[in-house]
Amino acid sequence: MTNHSTLFDDWIRDDFIDLNTELENLYWQQSDRANVESIGQSLKQALEQQGQHFINALLAEGNTNQGFDHAFDLLGNVGLYMAACRRHEITEPSRETHSPLIEASTLAMHIGASIGVTPRFATAHLTTHNKAVEGEYKRFTHLPDERVFIDFNTKGILAYKQAADALIRIQPLGISHPATADLLTTAITAIQTVQKHNQTLFHTLDAERFFYCVRPYYKPYRVGSVVYRGANAGDFAGINVIDLLTGLCAGNDKVYSQMLVDKFLYMMPEDQAILRDCMRRPSMLDLFLQQQHCAHHLWFQENLHLFLQLCQVHGQAATQHHDQLVEKFISQPSQSLQAQHLDKLTASGPALPILIDALEKLRDRRTAAPRNDIKTRYHDIKTLSALIGQHHGL
Ligand code: HEM
Repeated sequence: MTNHSTLFDDWIRDDFIDLNTELENLYWQQSDRANVESIGQSLKQALEQQGQHFINALLAEGNTNQGFDHAFDLLGNVGLYMAACRRHEITEPSRETHSPLIEASTLAMHIGASIGVTPRFATAHLTTHNKAVEGEYKRFTHLPDERVFIDFNTKGILAYKQAADALIRIQPLGISHPATADLLTTAITAIQTVQKHNQTLFHTLDAERFFYCVRPYYKPYRVGSVVYRGANAGDFAGINVIDLLTGLCAGNDKVYSQMLVDKFLYMMPEDQAILRDCMRRPSMLDLFLQQQHCAHHLWFQENLHLFLQLCQVHGQAATQHHDQLVEKFISQPSQSLQAQHLDKLTASGPALPILIDALEKLRDRRTAAPRNDIKTRYHDIKTLSALIGQHHGL
């Protein structure tokens, strides 16, 4: 790291967190907790000016070619600063046509374009690529609920990646290989770990604190003239790798592929490459269907049994995300939100009912639910399930 980027990183890990926390405490004391207008003006000014001071020096320094990791990390720091300015409404995308943070935007665009990612902070900056220094990783505030949220997002994402990694290894082996059973078992166990972390998050996170003091840092903001949607825990390839390689979701489903296209630049370049590769591979569901004539073979029975179990746990984890996490931490608290704040609710931008409907359809693809309006694998899973145990004497 250069001297300037080290100083900026120190600030992000220290005074930046203090300033945000002080502002959160002021907002929290109001009867309308969602209001930020005319509150803590001197703190907001300090935040904007101190960040600007470091960014000016970094912009003048130019691209110092310190390698991907440093560039990605610096982009994250600029992004955390811009997201905090947006949270405190120092900037507001519907009020402006260009971000007033001109130097920060320029630096973010320079770095983002040079390393092939979106020029805003992404989930990886706070989760899988967030270095802890003496036990403390980067975050916006000192609030315990933010720590809980990031801890369990990180653990959940890592477990999903582990499951995806096991499934990718099945590709060259094929569905009849004896080692495929081990890989399917690894994937099942990893998704069960996701479920365990989701459950802890569901019970531990305080819904009001999350809704009023954590979630607002994940709003969309402008970089230059473009509004970039907020970060969400889904911005990694693993979950889509599982969707595609199982066959529960398909790259030739126009709604699903639209989601993938929109999400590519929010992922790390290595995740982008993995996902592109998986979009070109056959799914296990199709492979099992094609080989139904082998249903009397031991390998078919054993591996199909595990495959169906994998589909089941994947569906269960998606149901947990939608019916528990989204419901408790987004849908329910939004009902008590005053009308003037509702339009600024979601991380991706669309109105809440539209977002919920899209997430519900994703859940139903992953559970292979019977639906007439979208393509799910309900009938195919039924066909495969009917083949289990029918062949005695094995
Ligand atoms: C997307 C809520 C935790 C995985 C979303 C979205 C919401 C949401 C509202 C839609 C994106 C948007 O707002 O624009 C929540 C809440 C959580 C939580 C309230 C906990 C408090 C997690 C965790 C994971 C996860 C722990 C997994 C590690 C995903 C994925 C997506 C997503 C993969 C993208 C859509 C999909 O493929 O299903 N989440 N989430 N989320 N979230 Fe979460």
